[in-house]
Amino acid sequence: MTKNKWWQDAVVYQIYPRSFADSNGDGVGDLNGITAHLDYLKELGVDVLWLSPIYASPNDDNGYDISDYCAIQPEFGTMADFDRLLAEAHRRGMKLLMDLVVNHTSDEHAWFQQSRSSKENPYRDFYIWKDAKPDGSAPNNWGSVFSGPAWEWDEATGQYYLHLFSKKQPDLNWANPKVRAAIYRMMRWWCDKGIDGFRMDTASFYAKSNYNDGPVYPGGLYGDFSGSCLNQPMIHTYLREMNEQVFSHYDVMSVGETGGVDIPNALRYANLDGSELSMVFQFSHVDAGPRVIGKWTDQKLPMPALRKILNEWQLGLAGKAWNSLYLDNHDQPRCVSRFGNDAPMWRALSAKMLATCLHMMQGTPYVYQGEELGMTNAYFEHIEDYRDIESLNAWKECIESGAVTAEAMLRYLKEISRDNARTPIQWDETAHAGFTTGTPWIAVNKNYLSINAKAEEADPDSVLNYYRRLIALRKSYPILVSGTFVPLLEDDAAVYAWKRCYKEETLVVACNFTAETVPCALFAPAGGEELIGNYHEHVQGMLQPYEARAVLYRK
Ligand code: GLC
Ligand code: CA
Repeated sequence: MTKNKWWQDAVVYQIYPRSFADSNGDGVGDLNGITAHLDYLKELGVDVLWLSPIYASPNDDNGYDISDYCAIQPEFGTMADFDRLLAEAHRRGMKLLMDLVVNHTSDEHAWFQQSRSSKENPYRDFYIWKDAKPDGSAPNNWGSVFSGPAWEWDEATGQYYLHLFSKKQPDLNWANPKVRAAIYRMMRWWCDKGIDGFRMDTASFYAKSNYNDGPVYPGGLYGDFSGSCLNQPMIHTYLREMNEQVFSHYDVMSVGETGGVDIPNALRYANLDGSELSMVFQFSHVDAGPRVIGKWTDQKLPMPALRKILNEWQLGLAGKAWNSLYLDNHDQPRCVSRFGNDAPMWRALSAKMLATCLHMMQGTPYVYQGEELGMTNAYFEHIEDYRDIESLNAWKECIESGAVTAEAMLRYLKEISRDNARTPIQWDETAHAGFTTGTPWIAVNKNYLSINAKAEEADPDSVLNYYRRLIALRKSYPILVSGTFVPLLEDDAAVYAWKRCYKEETLVVACNFTAETVPCALFAPAGGEELIGNYHEHVQGMLQPYEARAVLYRK
């Protein structure tokens, strides 16, 4: 077997800088706040840090609307602060990924300012401009991800521009070779600075194949653009070109955020031949399940449905491409609230169970800040507590259109809103959880007195200390990285189980997703080595509530 790539052996930790640590009391997390906590991250054992965007931005979508790719957002610090963070991370043996947001820019980016100034401007074709239909309406029926139409009329030049996200996030025109060349130049500039790769925002959206109307969702107001804009054939041509022009010249990793991706497409994006990307984030497990309107719901995804999806991805990519493993990120509710049980009695146990489940699969695991503490959904009670553009726009659109009541929508936000993941990191029991000495830009979760890093450091049984042990295992047990994946007990209603096989070893993993004690005969053979588990005592032939166990058997 050939040597692994460094990113196959790695655990990645995602930082959402606004909410990580505030060093200067303005209520907003910043680069110096991150640098001050590098020892915490080193002790956690993660190998790679991914920073959500830190570039200059008007902040319509918390930095995912970039006005200058080579400048640091002033509220996050300076380029000197960034250089110090990078050097300090490297000094501790950790790598650093930048978030690459190039499906769109901010409307305040110089390219768009030029582009919108006249039809003759050399930057006009950097974006996607179309004439109105004869009746003056938008070129097609597409809705934006953040509610409302995906087209914005621009009075100055009398055309519409496309924005699949907010109207302050105009889509770049990837069909224009000059756009691609400018992006590759910018990427090389960052690689030359010494960064270790990119998390690629909405990487499945770059290529647009046509501008036809999409099917309107039942009860929805707009058409679905996916058929024309997601995972279109040209995307692979673009990524191969990017690979040739950028990645192949550096020792960097790339992880594409590929909404709507299926296994055949992932086999191309993340192929082990290295022709496109290192790996992709697939969405099947976070998009699945009953939805009331758009993405909104208060229904949970039952474990058997989650298992079916994750098993398909494990088997589908095996030996051909590489999986990334995640339950949490800045766009998803907290996994312990969503897939586990955040009631005080079960929170820590179920958070450890989910961690075991994820990290024992094959692929590169991602830990999203606070996940290692078992942080829960914020469950904000009032719409005024929310900050996220997606949540606020959906609140307005869904209620105004009469599709749902305000009461129901608030319930959906509590379960699904991205702000659940964006509350400040709970460092200790002091005011605002030690995140800031000022007023935080978004409220701290009320449970910070009992859930915080300081308390968890001191408790050997905490979620934090469990994560430390779990992450450390990868360094000494090659089976975790290289072992094949074989599903077990595929019809069990409560237990998600599988084995990994490598050389003479077999690792058996079982996770009880329920609050009941349930039968499980998998660990009957004696003589295995308990790699990790969230209970000190076992019950023969049973798994206790939310129990997770991983036992290694040799030959
Ligand atoms: C990605 C980001 C999300 C952002 C969107 C638009 O999905 O993860 O936070 O809002 O792209 O850039
Ligand atoms: Ca600050």
